[in-house]
Amino acid sequence: MCTQDAFQAQRSQLVGLLVSGSLEGFESVLDWLLSWEVLSWEDYEGLSLPGQPLSRLARRLLDTVWNKGAWGCEQLVAAVREAQTDCQAPELSSCWDPHSPQPARDLQSHRPAIVRRLYSHVEGVLDLAWEHGFISQYECDEIRLPIFTSSQRARRLLDLATVKANGLAAFLLRHVQELPVPLALPFEDAACKKYMSKLRSMISAQSRFLSTYDGAENLCLEEIYTENVLEIRTEAGLAEPLQKNPATLGLEELFSSRGRLNDDADTLLVVGEAGSGKSTLLQRLHLLWASGRNFQEFLFVFPFSCRQLQCVAKPLSVRTLLFEHCCWPDLGQQDVFQFLLDHPNRVLLTFDGFDEFRFRFSDRERHCSPTDPTSVQTLLCNLLQGNLLKSARKVLTSRPAAVSALLRKCLRLELCLKGFSEEGIELYLRKCHREPGVADRLIRLLKATSALHGLCHLPVVSWMVSRCHQELLWRGGGSPKTSTDLYLLILQHFLLHASPPGSVPCGLGSGLLRGRLPSLLRLGRLAVHGLGTCCYVFSAKQLQAAHVGPEDISLGFLVHARSVVPGGAAPLEFLHITFQCFFAALYLVLSADLSPSLLRQLFSCHGPRSSLLARLLPPMCVPRPERPDGGDAALLQEAEPHNLQITAAFLAGLLSREHGGLLAECQVSERALLQRQAGARGCLSRSLHEHFHSIPAAVPGEAKSVHAMPGFVWLIRSLYEMQEERLAREAVRGLKVGHLKLTFCGVGPAECAALAFVLRHLRRPMALQLDHNSVGDVGVEQLLPCLSVCKALYLRDNNISDRGVCKLVEHAIHCQQLQKLALFNNKLTDGCAHSLARLLACKRNFLALRLGNNHITAAGAQVLAEGLRANGSLQFLGLWGNKVGDEGAQALAEALRDHQSLRWLSLVGNNIGSRGAQALALMLEKNVALEELCLEENHLQDEGVCSLAKGLERNSRLKVLKLSNNYITYLGAEALLRALERNDTILEVCFQLWVPTENASR
Ligand SMILES: Nc1ncnc2c1ncn2[C@@H]1O[C@H](COP(=O)(O)OP(=O)(O)O)[C@@H](O)[C@H]1O
Ligand SMILES: [Mg+2]
Repeated sequence: MCTQDAFQAQRSQLVGLLVSGSLEGFESVLDWLLSWEVLSWEDYEGLSLPGQPLSRLARRLLDTVWNKGAWGCEQLVAAVREAQTDCQAPELSSCWDPHSPQPARDLQSHRPAIVRRLYSHVEGVLDLAWEHGFISQYECDEIRLPIFTSSQRARRLLDLATVKANGLAAFLLRHVQELPVPLALPFEDAACKKYMSKLRSMISAQSRFLSTYDGAENLCLEEIYTENVLEIRTEAGLAEPLQKNPATLGLEELFSSRGRLNDDADTLLVVGEAGSGKSTLLQRLHLLWASGRNFQEFLFVFPFSCRQLQCVAKPLSVRTLLFEHCCWPDLGQQDVFQFLLDHPNRVLLTFDGFDEFRFRFSDRERHCSPTDPTSVQTLLCNLLQGNLLKSARKVLTSRPAAVSALLRKCLRLELCLKGFSEEGIELYLRKCHREPGVADRLIRLLKATSALHGLCHLPVVSWMVSRCHQELLWRGGGSPKTSTDLYLLILQHFLLHASPPGSVPCGLGSGLLRGRLPSLLRLGRLAVHGLGTCCYVFSAKQLQAAHVGPEDISLGFLVHARSVVPGGAAPLEFLHITFQCFFAALYLVLSADLSPSLLRQLFSCHGPRSSLLARLLPPMCVPRPERPDGGDAALLQEAEPHNLQITAAFLAGLLSREHGGLLAECQVSERALLQRQAGARGCLSRSLHEHFHSIPAAVPGEAKSVHAMPGFVWLIRSLYEMQEERLAREAVRGLKVGHLKLTFCGVGPAECAALAFVLRHLRRPMALQLDHNSVGDVGVEQLLPCLSVCKALYLRDNNISDRGVCKLVEHAIHCQQLQKLALFNNKLTDGCAHSLARLLACKRNFLALRLGNNHITAAGAQVLAEGLRANGSLQFLGLWGNKVGDEGAQALAEALRDHQSLRWLSLVGNNIGSRGAQALALMLEKNVALEELCLEENHLQDEGVCSLAKGLERNSRLKVLKLSNNYITYLGAEALLRALERNDTILEVCFQLWVPTENASR
């Protein structure tokens, strides 16, 4: 501890420290002391007199703090320490309110950070302040005197703002906040600086345009980027029970401490389906960094794409990875590399598309030397685990299928990329179409075509919709419903654009496809080969081998990969992996090679078969074996299952009746076509039957319960792509399932449409459990057609708002079978209370309504109470974790006095106090139905509990009363005990005795 005596003993040492550096060092100590209010403004003015020797100023400072006592002395030592370390940190944590009502005070309390921010922008800020009339020319000139360094100029400007009461302080506070975070280097090494600037300009150039840039349009990421929903994934089981809706995170918070699973790990994982925007998210991150707008804690960012990395056959080290496969330092390679090793916390590596890395994640082979070469898979796995470049941050993106439990063990944070929200879709379309009216019309079209709207949550689909806006807005026929419809539409769009104007009639079915058939087949064959060999980028040599020529490339489906190999010719890749799958499907459907066995494999109930070796040895890095040539289709046996699933769905869509004409036009004989259609139908319906029948028989007395197996959702989606009612009916004929569970299955609106398309043909009603998915309001709309076969619908944790619930209720009222609705943990507010009340009032057989963890307040509860009054069937009502408060509880209690059926009521965690308790007590006196009342986590206190005890004395029905966490002392407990003596029905009363001396005991 620093006492004044110890301080005095250190005095000469402290003086030495204060004068050892430049005036800059001394002034930054003053900055800290001012910001902590150790020095008053008067003190400060006395210490910043120009022309005084630094040693005199230092001694004066020591005297000043000495006079402030032991606290002042301690603060001085701390300030010296801060000033020493802050010259090594690039950015001081700086967060101030730019609209603070006391700007001068805030300028002072954030002074060290503000000086640092202002440092390289003083000139510009001075000009601006002068233009706005905050300072005079004379004052400007004074600050600009050549004797001052940049930071001294910054301080002079702040000093001026403190004494001028003309709004300068407020202006600075606002303006400085917007300045980019400075790049303060702790070293002045020219080689490093040069390398950083090369890296920045390279990444800036690479990240400026979107990857779907195809020469026909110029999509600037900056103009088009729309926020994507990023949810923090908490470890199942560790999630707190009271956790509200899944926590979302802005991209800029990626490296904050929120949601961390493991502090020691360096790797962040972003998981999302194909087309959910993973690559674009990374691209945005790169751009924000390269343009100096964010993530400036990193001095070096190295972007990698797994699909490109996996092509590296030669052994490589960290050094060759960074320098030869990303950015080459033209000067001082050794110094630069040493700096990276010495400061790993200033380095960020991003790896896009781990699902496209054909090697599995493994922790078997440890490699710790940054200079020794090893295989690319060992290198990547060791980087992710932190055996190499420990403390350097790594961001990895992947589709869900490639994420193993082993990989999860080395994660610092896992995030789920959910795609665009509904507002996101609108915003995106408005950004794409700034010309008046177009975006409005597109949005109207989407709202009217909910199947298409549902697909648009995937950004890649939104992009396609935006791209085909003319076809969508002007075409006469209906809007596309399925993914296949949409991909055919964009195919037509590209083919039309590649044709000379006026040379072809509109529409795919009018010769357009036939004219380009050879090109499409070549591209399709390339796609199949790529999928089969897990190859998603194609070198010039590969293209040549596949006979893909410039004419095929000019159609626009192949684009240049954003090459990270300096100097190398950028390879080509499909616009998006879904396009590669679509072309593969197109090829299969048109080629003579589509055998019944391939159809069976694609539509298998267990998902397409993956390589036996890879399945047997998942933890090892097993490269896929080269297959001997067994026909194009046979190649697909080695493809990644998640790509085959997408391909299968497109194949089903292309084989649908609706698109039969197109295939006929492409010279597929009618007989072959009919055979293939029949084959696909047969396989699909057989697989679904197999799926349902492989489930063990139900326990006697219980409904048969099914949890969907992997691949089930894709089977259903494939069936939907075919759009054949009869097939859907057949698929579920004779199905006897009481409860279909699809929890944590990535069910979004598109999957909901497919589920409803199939399930609505069920003969017997069942419970449909869709907890923990991303159904959303649009998904709810998609589910409506199957509502009439649902006995119960569980939609816990699905991002549903009032709009979705109102739509749901509108239909539910007419669905005789539906008796239970669970909407726990969504975004419901009082806005849906009227609908729910109507449901309660109108549906005579409704049994359970669970609305926990939403945002319903007293007003909503009052409306619900009205519904309850008119209701005679409800047995379970869950309102846990809302905010109904005393008034809400009163309204519900009054409505329940004479209610004849409600057996279970939860009002846990609802801000209910003694008034609410009183009303509930009165209800208990009269009510003869309620068996369990849960009131934990409220503020009942003894007064409330005494009322409840009175109610209990006159009640002869309640069996369980839960009162934990309600500040009940022995007074309340005594009242309860007395009541229990007079009550014969109660079986269980739970509460915690609260001892007001902080220590609560049971
Ligand atoms: N946040 C976004 N803002 C605007 N467009 C996006 C966004 N995310 C994705 N896109 C569009 O969707 C396309 C596919 O996204 P991509 O990032 O390649 O998905 P993924 O890598 O998950 O398969 C992009 O090329 C782009 O056109
Ligand atoms: Mg991607």
